[in-house]
Amino acid sequence: MTSNSSTTDSCAEVDARKHSSIYFGEPFRIFFPLGLFLGSIGVALWPLFVWHAIEFYPAQAHVRLMIEGLMGSFIIGFLGTAGPRLLDAPALIAAETSLLFVLQIASALLHLAQRQTAGDIVFLTMLLFFVGMMAKRAGARADLPPPQFVLVLFGLVNALGGIFLLTAAKSFTNGSFSSRLGSLMLNEGFVLFPILGVGAFFFPKLLGGAKPEPTDLRIARTLWVTRAVIAALTGAVIWTSFVLEALGWIRTAAFMRGLTTLAYFLGQGHLFEKPSGPPFLAHCFRVGALLLVAGLFLPVALPGYPVASLHMTFIGGFSVILFTVSTRVIIGHAGQSHLFQKRLRFLIATLTLLIIAMIARVGADFIPPARNAHLVYAALIWLSAAIVWGVALTPKLSLTED
Ligand code: HEM
Repeated sequence: MTSNSSTTDSCAEVDARKHSSIYFGEPFRIFFPLGLFLGSIGVALWPLFVWHAIEFYPAQAHVRLMIEGLMGSFIIGFLGTAGPRLLDAPALIAAETSLLFVLQIASALLHLAQRQTAGDIVFLTMLLFFVGMMAKRAGARADLPPPQFVLVLFGLVNALGGIFLLTAAKSFTNGSFSSRLGSLMLNEGFVLFPILGVGAFFFPKLLGGAKPEPTDLRIARTLWVTRAVIAALTGAVIWTSFVLEALGWIRTAAFMRGLTTLAYFLGQGHLFEKPSGPPFLAHCFRVGALLLVAGLFLPVALPGYPVASLHMTFIGGFSVILFTVSTRVIIGHAGQSHLFQKRLRFLIATLTLLIIAMIARVGADFIPPARNAHLVYAALIWLSAAIVWGVALTPKLSLTED
C-alpha cells in the first residue's frame, strides 16, 4: 500500500516536471500570452490617453509595445519552439527561456515608464541572447538551416541595426536620416522579413496540415543555394527601399517594397497554389498577406499618410498573419489537428474584428476632427479581437500532443 502510493506520488512528480518543462522547451506557451498582453496594453494606451486616464502622449510606448512587445514575443515564441526542433537540436532549457522572459518584461516596463533608450537596449540584449542560443544549436549540427531563413536572420539584423541607428541618432545633431532608417528597420523590417522567410518555408507544409521535419531540410545543394540567393536578393531590395524612403523617395520606395514582397509571396510562398490539406488556414493567411501587400503599396497613392498606410500593414497584415499562424502552432502542439478540418469560428470572428479595427484606424487619419474617437473605436475593436482569440486558445496552451 505504502509502496503503491509512493510510486503514484513519484509518477505524479515526474508528470508535473515533464509538464512544466514543456513551457520552457516550447516557449510559445509562455511568449504568445505575454505578447498578447503587451500588445493589448500598447493598444489600450490610446483610449486611456483620450479618456485622460494617463498623462503622457503614448506614441513612443505604443510603437515599442506593439513591435518589440507584441511582435517580438510572438517571433521569439515561434522561433524558440520551431528552431531547435527543425535543427534536431535540444529544446531551450528553463534558464534560457526564463532569461528571455525576464528581459522582455523589463524592456516593456521601461517603455511604459517612457525610458525608450533603456527599453530598447534591454530588448536588444534579449535578442542577442536569443541569437546566441540558436547559433549554439545550429553550430552543433551538420545540415544547413532552411534557405529561406536568410530572411529570418535579416529580420533579427534589422531589429539590432534599427535599434542601434535610433539610439545613435539621439546623439547626432542631424540624426533625422538615421532615425528614419532605424524606425523603418525596426518597425517594418524586424517583422516583415521573418514573415516572408518563415512563410515561404512553412506555409506550404504547415497550412496544408503536415508537420515540418528535419528531413524537409535535406534538399539538393544547388536548390538550397538558389533559394538562399533569392531570399538574400529579396531582403536586399526591401532594405534598399528603406534607405530610399528615409531619403524622402516615398512613392518609389513603397512601389519597390510592395512589388518585391508580392513577388516573394507568390513565387516562393506559393500564395495562390492549392494547399495540400484543408484550405481554411491558408485562406486566412492569404487575407493577411494581401492586406500586408496592399498596405505596403498604399503610399504610392497616398504619400501624405504614411502612418495610416502602415496601420493597414500592421493590423490587416501583421496582426492577421500573427493570429492565423499562432492558431496553427497552438492547435498543432495541443494534439488537436482534427480542428484543421474545420472553419474555426473564433478565428473568423477575430479576423473580422481585426479588419474592422484596421478600417477604423486607417480612416482616423483622414478625419482630423473625429480622429480621437476613431482611434478609440479602433483600439477597442482590436482589443475585442485579442480577447476572442485569447479566450478560445489560452486553455489549449497547457495541452500536449500525447
Ligand atoms: C487598432 C489599434 C491601433 C491604434 C488606435 C493605433 C494608433 C496609432 C497612432 C495614433 C500612431 C501615431 C503616433 C504618433 O506618432 O503620434 C501610431 C503609430 C504606430 N503604431 Fe499604431 N495603432 C494601433 C495598432 C497598431 C498595431 C497592431 C501595431 C503593430 C503591430 C502598431 C504599430 C505602430 C507603429 C510601429 C507606429 C509608429 C509608426 C511610425 O511612425 O513609424 N499600431 N499608432
